[in-house]
Amino acid sequence: MSELLSVQGLTVTPANNPGKKLVNNVSFTLQSGKTTCIVGESGSGKSLTALSVMGLLATSLNRTSGSIQFQGNEITHLSNDALSRIRGKQIGMIFQEPMTSLNPVLTVGFQIGESLTVHLGLKGDALKAKIAALLEQVGIPPERANAYPDELSGGQRQRVMIAMSIACEPKMLIADEPTTALDVTVQAQILALLDELKTRMNMGMLFITHDFGVVADIADDVLVMFRGEVVEAGSVDEVLFKPQHPYTKALLDCVPDAEGKKQLKPIDYSWLEAA
Ligand SMILES: Nc1ncnc2c1ncn2[C@@H]1O[C@H](COP(=O)(O)OP(=O)(O)OP(=O)(O)O)[C@@H](O)[C@H]1O
Ligand SMILES: [Mg+2]
Repeated sequence: MSELLSVQGLTVTPANNPGKKLVNNVSFTLQSGKTTCIVGESGSGKSLTALSVMGLLATSLNRTSGSIQFQGNEITHLSNDALSRIRGKQIGMIFQEPMTSLNPVLTVGFQIGESLTVHLGLKGDALKAKIAALLEQVGIPPERANAYPDELSGGQRQRVMIAMSIACEPKMLIADEPTTALDVTVQAQILALLDELKTRMNMGMLFITHDFGVVADIADDVLVMFRGEVVEAGSVDEVLFKPQHPYTKALLDCVPDAEGKKQLKPIDYSWLEAA
């Protein structure tokens, strides 16, 4: 099976503190039509890993080592121009906060259309038709194209973000906690939508979450990150049912039970001192 994305030995440090490894020697691969979840608590390096793949690290950060291959081609040496041609076209992105990612003074239709014009040269009626089709695909009435972001619900805004991210039919979708800000029902709808689109379009999905319930729902493969390192990696069944690492076991202990009651046990870090 050919790999869509291969990340090997990725390390990220602050530019002014090269000894501090925020992402430390992270490696993983992603196949078309599959979902890899990166899971871990806040600050474990999940977003920095995703941002590295897209070449969007803050200038105060450096990728000090590592190879990132997309469809077999090394992309770490590409110029900003070349990367921005890949972003949005071949690699779609969805972030946690739709309100900060959407422009409040532009209609959602216009914003969905932007990448279609930039990357595919669509204009006029063809553009309008494609925007309507995309809105329909994500479950928003096409006439809402003229709405501004603050006229939509949180779930609808996230659907607009999804429509934007898949507009150019990317090969890969990177979703960084796209449902965290939503209530549970809407979260489930958005996850189901992403999963369906992934299958229909045969996309590879890199999905970041701190929620093992979400992992159980959509992951094929799982990476567990702790303090910048991958402490456990495997298929979703291996990681959920046969966790090897004490940190994974501790995280799994915090998952709500079948009745949805949160068992908010504090994470037990005693294994760390013992190691
Ligand atoms: N621009 C930056 N400069 C310096 N340190 C940063 C920068 N961005 C992130 N960090 C640090 O890098 C570490 C990893 O951050 P990252 O955003 O990847 O965490 P995360 O796993 O996505 O967490 P969360 O679940 O809260 O989103 C954190 O300790 C964070 O404080
Ligand atoms: Mg993050």
